[in-house]
Amino acid sequence: MIEKQPLLKIEDLKVNFSTFNGELSAIDGVSLELNTGEVLGIVGESGCGKSVTAEAILQLLDENISTYDGKILFNGANLLDYSSKEIEKLRGNEISMIFQDPMSSLNPVIPIGKQIAESIIIHQKISKKEAYKKAIELLELTGIPSPVQRAKEYPHEISGGMRQRVMIAIALACQPKLLIADEPTTALDVTIQSQILDLMMKFQKELNMGIILITHDFGVVANICTKVAVMYLGQVIEETDVNTLFSKPLHPYTFGLMESVPQLDGDRSQELSTIAGSVPSLYQIPKGCRFAPRCKYATEKCHVSMPILEQAKSNHKVRCWHYEKISERKTVYANQ
Ligand SMILES: Nc1ncnc2c1ncn2[C@@H]1O[C@H](COP(=O)(O)OP(=O)(O)O)[C@@H](O)[C@H]1O
Ligand SMILES: [Mg+2]
Repeated sequence: MIEKQPLLKIEDLKVNFSTFNGELSAIDGVSLELNTGEVLGIVGESGCGKSVTAEAILQLLDENISTYDGKILFNGANLLDYSSKEIEKLRGNEISMIFQDPMSSLNPVIPIGKQIAESIIIHQKISKKEAYKKAIELLELTGIPSPVQRAKEYPHEISGGMRQRVMIAIALACQPKLLIADEPTTALDVTIQSQILDLMMKFQKELNMGIILITHDFGVVANICTKVAVMYLGQVIEETDVNTLFSKPLHPYTFGLMESVPQLDGDRSQELSTIAGSVPSLYQIPKGCRFAPRCKYATEKCHVSMPILEQAKSNHKVRCWHYEKISERKTVYANQ
C-alpha cells in the first residue's frame, strides 16, 4: 500500500547564518509534518527561530548569508533542491505567506485593487480586466465594505486590519495548498485579530488548505490549531495535537509559556515574559539542554548533555531528560 504523502514534511532542517562575528546556527534539526487541512501552530518566545523556519520553506532568507541543510518536502519534492525560478513559481501559487506587517509587503504607490490583480496575473493567464474583476471579488470575499471604491485606495489610506485583509486576498488569489502565516494578527487589536483569524479559517475550510500559523499567543493556538510545535532556541522541544498540549504538556518550557498567557482583556501583543531569564544568544548556545539555564528542574545531566526529541507517546514528542517525573509532579500539584 502506498502511504499518503504529507503536504509538507520538514526533515532535520538546519539553517546557518554567516555573520561578521562568525557562523550562527539559527535552526538546528527541526522536523515538522503537516497534512492537507491541518493547522499547525508554531509557538515560542521571540528569537526562537519561528520566522527563520517559515522563511526557509520559501527560501526567503538572504542567500548570501544563509546555508540550509536537511529536507523540506512539499508533496514529496524537496524544495531545497529547487532553483530560485522554481521556487518563484510556487510562491503565491501553491504556497502563500502572510506576515505581521502587511505594509512591508504592499507597494505604497499602487492602489490595492491593482496590486491584487497584478498578483493574479503573475500566476494565471487572464486579461488585466478579468484580473481586476477578480480582485474586487476577492476584496468582497474578505469582508471589505464597498470593494469597488476601496480597490482604488492606496495601502496607507486603509486601516491595519483592512491591509491584512488585502494581504489575505493576495495570498489566497491562487487558492494555495499551503498558507504560512507569520504572526498575522500580532499588530492588530483584539477584536480585529479575531475577525482576521475567522476570515483565515473560513478560507482554510473552503480550500482545505494546510496552514502553518506562527504565533506567541496560546489563546490563538487553542482556538484554531489542530497541532502544535513549541520551539526553543532553534529546536522543536515539544510537538503534539492541540488537546494533548493543553491537557498534558510535558516540557517545562511549555508549562512556563502557558503560565504566561496574557489575559484576554490585557495587551495580547505583549511578548511572553514570565519565564525567568531570556532566550540566550545564538553565539552562546548552552552545551546540554538549551533550556537548562532557565529551567527550575534542571539537573547536572541537563547542563552537559542535550536530550533528543523523544517519542513520549504515539502522538507526542518531547525534548527533555526528565519529562516523566516533571509531568507527574505537575499533575500531583494540579490535583491538590
Ligand atoms: N539574517 C540574519 N542574520 C543573522 N541572524 C539572523 C538573521 N535572521 C534571523 N536571525 C537570528 O535567528 C534567530 C531566530 O530568528 P527568528 O526566526 O526571526 O525568531 P522568531 O522566533 O522571533 O521568529 C534570532 O536569533 C535572529 O537574531
Ligand atoms: Mg518572527
